[in-house]
Amino acid sequence: MASQHPCVIVVGAQWGDEGKGKVVDLLAGHFAWIARYQGGHNAGHTVVIAGKKYVLQLIPCGILRGQSNAVIGNGVVIDPQALVDEIATLEQAGIAVAGKLFVSNRAHVILPYHRMIELAAESAPGRIKIGTTSRGIGPAYEDKMGRRGLRVHDLYDPRLLRVHINNALAEKNAVAGALYHSQPLDAGIIVETALALAERIRPYVADTALLLNQAAARGEAILLEGAQGALLDIDHGTYPFVTSSSTTAGGACIGTGLAPTRITAAVGVSKAYCTRVGGGPFPTEIEGAQADELRQRGNEFGSVTGRPRRVGWFDAPLLRYAALLNGLESLIITKLDVLDTLKHIPVCVGYRLNGSGNAGQPTDAIPPAAAAWDRLEPIYETVPGWQCSTEGITRESDLPPRARDYLKFLGRASKLDIGMISTGPERDQTITVPGSRLQALLEQTHHARAV
Ligand code: IMP
Repeated sequence: MASQHPCVIVVGAQWGDEGKGKVVDLLAGHFAWIARYQGGHNAGHTVVIAGKKYVLQLIPCGILRGQSNAVIGNGVVIDPQALVDEIATLEQAGIAVAGKLFVSNRAHVILPYHRMIELAAESAPGRIKIGTTSRGIGPAYEDKMGRRGLRVHDLYDPRLLRVHINNALAEKNAVAGALYHSQPLDAGIIVETALALAERIRPYVADTALLLNQAAARGEAILLEGAQGALLDIDHGTYPFVTSSSTTAGGACIGTGLAPTRITAAVGVSKAYCTRVGGGPFPTEIEGAQADELRQRGNEFGSVTGRPRRVGWFDAPLLRYAALLNGLESLIITKLDVLDTLKHIPVCVGYRLNGSGNAGQPTDAIPPAAAAWDRLEPIYETVPGWQCSTEGITRESDLPPRARDYLKFLGRASKLDIGMISTGPERDQTITVPGSRLQALLEQTHHARAV
């Protein structure tokens, strides 16, 4: 049940790139605050407004509407250079950042040696190839958990900063030099750059946990914006082929300091099919001509790295798993129009577990070991395609009957209430499903915002 002060978490229900950027931008009008709670500039949230494309990596894309305050929470790892660049890009585009952006003083900082270690380690012999975005995300979280990280507030203590970087770099240079033959980095340059960037960020630094809890207490609506997706969660995803943070809804409280009792609902975002970037299990993955067509039609190339994304069919057992982990209330389906040309659309409705005396047993269990996923054989049901354009449709009743049937099928198979459908990259290429739980939630949010 929705509380008086709606705090809604939006999470990717697959492996990231579900189109959360557009969704958060759309929902932002209903929320006074939008907060990112994990990840870093490995995320790429794409929003298209009046034909102009914005890719935001660190700053919550809710800032584009100009109505909400944007928070980078303590759970995010911040590359100061990336943040300064992104602020400059937004300002050049005429988007107000001053007075709207708040950066947690407790967020950890990514420094050049994190990237050095990651680049070297990923290509080292014998290492599992995760296919990271090479942004230093994992090594920064390692330092955080190892209690040897540098936080945003430390940037304003030059003596501490110098000592920290000198000590840390001595160790990192030694490790990277000995193990990976990396060229050593210069501590002096890193310190001076960090001090200069710190001054550019200073106006935005705040105790964001305090701000968010105070806002919630005043009854202001808060949207917590997840990056990546549930299956990339450090604990619940396809480990070790995951990112280094808690992408699932539980991470929203840890990564912002907003108390769990404030959370009203979690909403999942999923494509009408499935993609993933980097290595790791992907039961419904397809290859060949059909994969190429889906990749081209969906423009499935990473918004941060430009890498071609792996593509496959909608995986309902994974959605059920994401729904369970995140307590999903509603589902938003994106990129429906990408499927417009298909004659038949397979949907994975369950798995059969093969091997180890389990010949073909149906299962919904998600194995903990990545290697065990090879034993999962998807069970497909094939739904007829609609073979006409759904691009830009804004009313559910205008969808071709077969597209409506496909959506109903996805809702039934994933046991979720579909509240919104995206039919193109623009803001207005969207359907809000009348009578859906999401619509009811947004109405409530609207009232709460007006308190
Ligand atoms: P990292 O987050 O750079 O450490 O990369 C770990 C894994 O997460 C790799 O498979 C990346 O491709 C994937 N990943 C990280 N960020 C994103 C994202 O925003 N979308 C999709 N995949 C991502």
